[in-house]
Amino acid sequence: MRTFARAGVVVLLGLGLGLASSSSSQAGAKPSISKEAYGSVGGQAVDRYTLSNGKFRVRILTYGGILQTVETPDRHGRLANVTLGFGTLGGYVTSKNPAYFGALIGRYGNRIAKGKFTLGGQTYQLAINNDPNSLHGGNAGFDKRVWTATPVAGKNTVALRLSYVSPNGEEGYPGTLRTTVTYTITKDRGIRIDYHATTDKATVVNLTNHAYWNLGGEGTGTIDDHKLQLRASRYTPVDSTLIPTGKLAAVAGTPMDFRKATAIGARNRSSFQQIVYGRGYDHNWVLDRHGKGLEVAARVSDAASGRTLTISTTEPGIQFYGGNFLDGTLYGTSGRAYRQGDGLALETQHFPDSPNHANFPSTVLRPGQVLRSTTVYQFGTR
Ligand code: BGC
Repeated sequence: MRTFARAGVVVLLGLGLGLASSSSSQAGAKPSISKEAYGSVGGQAVDRYTLSNGKFRVRILTYGGILQTVETPDRHGRLANVTLGFGTLGGYVTSKNPAYFGALIGRYGNRIAKGKFTLGGQTYQLAINNDPNSLHGGNAGFDKRVWTATPVAGKNTVALRLSYVSPNGEEGYPGTLRTTVTYTITKDRGIRIDYHATTDKATVVNLTNHAYWNLGGEGTGTIDDHKLQLRASRYTPVDSTLIPTGKLAAVAGTPMDFRKATAIGARNRSSFQQIVYGRGYDHNWVLDRHGKGLEVAARVSDAASGRTLTISTTEPGIQFYGGNFLDGTLYGTSGRAYRQGDGLALETQHFPDSPNHANFPSTVLRPGQVLRSTTVYQFGTR
């Protein structure tokens, strides 16, 4: 591949995509990808990639595979960045990104009770980083690793493939885990994420992305008025430490029922025990699946801007987290403080704490098996 530098930005050629007229600054008509140096973490260089396709542009960091910005038009064609994050690498590194804005999560998305599980007769102890449990892969999960990036050509798409090899025993997990995550920007304002992983020893894996959405634009206030629809008639109730009890409970007749599009703010202050435990919504919904392919899991809409987001996945569950722990101490990309409910995360996943619940779909990955999982975020307007 040939590259050349222009004003600190490297425009990548040889993709068969044509060259965007002004590298990374315009959402041009043709798919384009460019890269720029974006500082370093622990002596490792970090790059930022800008992928554009039509009037849609995303930025991805090799640190944590973080989806830093997603710019998409409202019903009048005006672009806004609809994902929460920071404007600098330092934001992610110095705050240790406690909110996991935009990051790839591994090896295990969400909680493992007391950080403990047994596999093949052996008990493994993970870091307790969310007392008394292990959350999102431990102290230094995939969100804090520098990934190796490769641009990938498509006909009407542009993609970035990220790879990370997690050594045997990293964060207490068994097996060398080779993970590849490909972000593809489709021609119609979609982000497709393909996850692929293999291991050389039996292990547990649950990969996801932790982007938060605010369809009015990040930093513009709460998502209380956003309407959410979840294709799920059951959810996994939790205890006070947000660990599933093991039951699959019906949503019918409870504030957990999002089978019809409902404003998030309508019930997130309810005294329903589950909502009290989560300080709002912070639960895994069991998707009503028909097969193993990509199926719609969630729809979000914002009447004010007209923006919509439809999430499809091959996963059995989705974590709807309403940004309950955002407390005004983090200042986002546009410089404004993020407060409770200023964004919602919809994390496609296997169920939390699956290694300790035999009745949940298995998260065990064995040598010779390939983990494949896909999630598509489709943006639109109405
Ligand atoms: C969890 C929340 C947690 C958040 C950020 C979500 O996936 O369910 O409990 O606070 O991630 O760490």
